[in-house]
Amino acid sequence: MSLHNGIKNYPIRGLIEKTPRPFVFDKIGFLKMTLSIETERLRLREFKIQDKMNLIDILSDEDSMRFYPHPFSEKEVEGWIDWNLKNYAEYGFGLWAVILKKTDVFIGDCGITLQNIEGEKLPEIGYHIERKYCNQGYATEAALACKNYAFEVLGFLKVYTYTTPDNLSSRRVAEKIGMTPVKNFSKKGIQEVLYVAERVDCPQ
Ligand SMILES: CC(C)(COP(=O)(O)OP(=O)(O)OC[C@H]1O[C@@H](n2cnc3c(N)ncnc32)[C@H](O)[C@@H]1OP(=O)(O)O)[C@@H](O)C(=O)NCCC(=O)NCCS
Repeated sequence: MSLHNGIKNYPIRGLIEKTPRPFVFDKIGFLKMTLSIETERLRLREFKIQDKMNLIDILSDEDSMRFYPHPFSEKEVEGWIDWNLKNYAEYGFGLWAVILKKTDVFIGDCGITLQNIEGEKLPEIGYHIERKYCNQGYATEAALACKNYAFEVLGFLKVYTYTTPDNLSSRRVAEKIGMTPVKNFSKKGIQEVLYVAERVDCPQ
């Protein structure tokens, strides 16, 4: 995995190590803000407004969204992009577009957002892969890269994911990237199961 990062260092109390992470500058001294994470088959990059139709194929799909209250409307997909553009600007991370390197095709999203979990703002890895690309290990490959990024670049000591108990493929992805279930909790009236991974060099 290669990482090119231009993140801002936003300390989030109790979650990241004390050593400040530097800003990254390009060769002529401009602050680099373009993220690109590469894995063997995938490239993760920031969303663009033009990704809307690709995201609609996933987030407005009834089957893909069956564990959500409802498939997203076009407005909600626009809101999803806006929310992530704001996350990039504010924190330097968010959900990213997942692109197949071989064909340059957009197949989903995966990334890290801060989620309110029982009153705490915790870093959470989320993922959505278009149905026709499912069960080929793409979510696992992307989520593993995000987990490593959360630990190695952002400096988080723990990273979480949550999903509904019956979302078995999502739970399987969490397990395959080395997460363990912590507890069930309720968010917006929906029962969720929370998974965590801890950084192995986490100071005691
Ligand atoms: C969850 C999701 C991202 C997984 O994407 P993916 O690229 O298919 O994931 P992977 O191929 O890396 O792994 C899927 C795993 O789930 C398993 N799986 C799939 N359907 C399953 C089912 N009904 N029951 C149990 N396991 C299942 C697969 O066999 C695979 O595990 P394996 O490698 O041990 O065989 C995708 O299904 C999706 O986008 N779902 C809709 C959105 C969603 O619910 N996102 C999570 C929100 S919390």
